[in-house]
Amino acid sequence: MKSLVIEGGEPLSGSVPISGAKNAALPSCIASLLTEEPIVLHSVPQLRDVSTILYTLGALGKRVVRHDTSVSIATGGTLIPEANAYSVGQMRASFLVLGPLVARLGRAVVPLPGGCAIGARPVDLHLEGLRALGARVEERVGVVVVSADRLIGGTIRFPFPSVGATEQIIMAACLAQGKTVIHNAATEPEVMDLIDLLSKMGAEISVGNRRIHVTGKRSLGGAEHTLIPDRMEAATLLLAGAITRGSVSVSPVCPEHLDAFLESLRSTGVKLEVGETSITATGIARPIAVSLETSPYPGFPTDLHPPMSAFLSTAAGTSAIVESVFERRFAYTSALSKMGAHIVQDGTSLMIQGVDELIGQQVEAPDIRGGAALVLAGLAARGRTIITGLDHIDRGHANLETKLRSIGARIERREDSA
Ligand code: UD1
Repeated sequence: MKSLVIEGGEPLSGSVPISGAKNAALPSCIASLLTEEPIVLHSVPQLRDVSTILYTLGALGKRVVRHDTSVSIATGGTLIPEANAYSVGQMRASFLVLGPLVARLGRAVVPLPGGCAIGARPVDLHLEGLRALGARVEERVGVVVVSADRLIGGTIRFPFPSVGATEQIIMAACLAQGKTVIHNAATEPEVMDLIDLLSKMGAEISVGNRRIHVTGKRSLGGAEHTLIPDRMEAATLLLAGAITRGSVSVSPVCPEHLDAFLESLRSTGVKLEVGETSITATGIARPIAVSLETSPYPGFPTDLHPPMSAFLSTAAGTSAIVESVFERRFAYTSALSKMGAHIVQDGTSLMIQGVDELIGQQVEAPDIRGGAALVLAGLAARGRTIITGLDHIDRGHANLETKLRSIGARIERREDSA
């Protein structure tokens, strides 16, 4: 069994480079389905989820060449409309191939998605959006079959600004006939980065006031694009500095992408120095408890709730976290409690009463961000923490232990934890 073994209690200090954003990389790779010409992406993080999506694109007929953190995705053989069940089962983001495939080929057969078990995570908004563009959508056992001679621009009003559904519909609308308007669209930085790439490919997209307008084109061209830095990785590493009462700098980052997180972190008393493309967090002996609620961008990101919760477990006083995006994102709390945290869950809220210290234990990562929370707790804890379930952590964090070791963490990967 693979595990991460952490000897906790070392204050971390130093600078860490931040990789390109996973959640920007996945849709950007998928956008290559919209064109016959090559898409070249830079700052692509070396993660399992990225390998999964590139594998999916290869199986659909794309030719993928990966060199270090650059990826070129060009036309290989004939594009096929049926996505592989294995890869879509591995990761929810693979479902985004649906819109581009139907827009390009007039038909797509895509299995229902898997991914982290952090809530119901239906795909109804994706399918409603495609229906609004004139597609016929048939749900069969385990797969969705979507067809349309040509998609027609339409108006969509999402009841909730879903990131995936927004990306799905933007991509499909790029090749639809006429104009599409998406009301209450997600405007996360990763969505905006996808729009940036699509615009370089020749798409006509404008954004304002949670509304996205897309004017469809007959075809899109190739493009070269550098992904935005991963705000989740940056925040997790800043928390590694804060929870160990050390001082960690991250760059490159877009500090404005982290406003809500930085505001909460600042109110705990952690000292922040924010530059144009870098941030330094310096921990204090006993941070102060805070209350926060997750919400769509520009609110506090749901992906940072578990890491923040680990940090607040060591604050003075009682913090409250309300999870408003994913109703079941709490699997990590039992492992944190095993490490000595005082966390009480009531529905989608947590009360976290800060403790003097966390204690190393053997725990299992339940999902990507819950895994990050346990790594943070392990870095701060007294004694040894052994974390299993590394497949989850590896899905979303590029070279995590190497980066942590470079700032003084005693962390290593082992094949056998027994
Ligand atoms: C993306 C991110 C994920 C992040 C999330 C919210 C990627 C690859 N993943 O996930 O890291 O946590 O945004 O910022 O970018 N929903 C529906 N019906 C739908 C679609 C979504 O009810 O058709 C609900 C979900 O169950 C959830 C909420 O909407 O409660 C938000 O989901 P969504 O924004 O779609 O998240 P993802 O795109 O899956």
